Amino acid sequence: MSAGSRVTPAPPAKRKAVTLSSLAEKKALGEPIVMVTAYDYPSAQVAEEAGVDLVLVGDSGAMTVLGYPSTVPVSLEEMLMLSAAARRGLSTPLLVGDLPFGSYEASDEQAIATAQRFVKDAGCDAVKLERGGVCAARAKAIVDAGIPVMGHVGLTPQTATALGGYRSQGRTAERAMQVLEDALALQEAGCFAIVFEAVPSEFTELVMPLIEVPVIGIGAGPATDGQVLVFHDLLGIYDGHAARFVKRYGDVRQAMIEGVEAFAREVRERRYPEPEHGYTMAPDEVARLRGLVSRLAADRAHA
Ligand code: KIV
Repeated sequence: MSAGSRVTPAPPAKRKAVTLSSLAEKKALGEPIVMVTAYDYPSAQVAEEAGVDLVLVGDSGAMTVLGYPSTVPVSLEEMLMLSAAARRGLSTPLLVGDLPFGSYEASDEQAIATAQRFVKDAGCDAVKLERGGVCAARAKAIVDAGIPVMGHVGLTPQTATALGGYRSQGRTAERAMQVLEDALALQEAGCFAIVFEAVPSEFTELVMPLIEVPVIGIGAGPATDGQVLVFHDLLGIYDGHAARFVKRYGDVRQAMIEGVEAFAREVRERRYPEPEHGYTMAPDEVARLRGLVSRLAADRAHA
């Protein structure tokens, strides 16, 4: 084909923005829902281009991008900054902001005020909170204030110490019933979706018929309505401990190290920059500049 007869490619089909009802519809149709975490503009852009349904600015960002030892220390202001950056990289997926530990548990008023900041200041479409019990009451208060809430049960990292560490939950019938009660309380509170984290696949399969809203699993087996993984885990960027449920779909950290090593090597060997990486000046301007610089050097020598 000659250059003259080249046909202009059609622009990529614009995807429809994901909504609460399109998620409910996916559940009804049995279409798997995809969620990933993102914590900044480039990771959100990657999630957008990959066509995921939901992006969670998870408090896992405390560990993956802020370097804290757990999710507990991350502040509300830090989560808002990460969420606002992710917002700027997204237009299609639903954006969910994770309420950090200590920002919603104390009272309904605190929970509503925090959730409102995620929506007003960071542009989130919804928020996520962990646990049933009193947190289900907080979820209801936020939902009643007009903000969609995603619940999170099973392994809830904000209270991992109380759960005996980062370990799977609901492995006895009694403990499994407690996880189910949490999920049902969050559903009753009006949550539009619930994350099941690190629970036995048999548990998920048994309780799915009782959950009317989309269930997004992470280490919860294949019976959920969707799956979520942490961006840095699935792409192999984070070098900390990886849970059993993590599958690596890339080795981006190694690729980044190799890229920076190559840059360092070329700088040290004076192979970078090459002429095409620089800017040029017209020869007459170079000549004029040479005169001006010599005059300045001479003036300084005599000063
Ligand atoms: O913070 C997070 O990334 C999460 C997901 C693992 C669901 O809560």
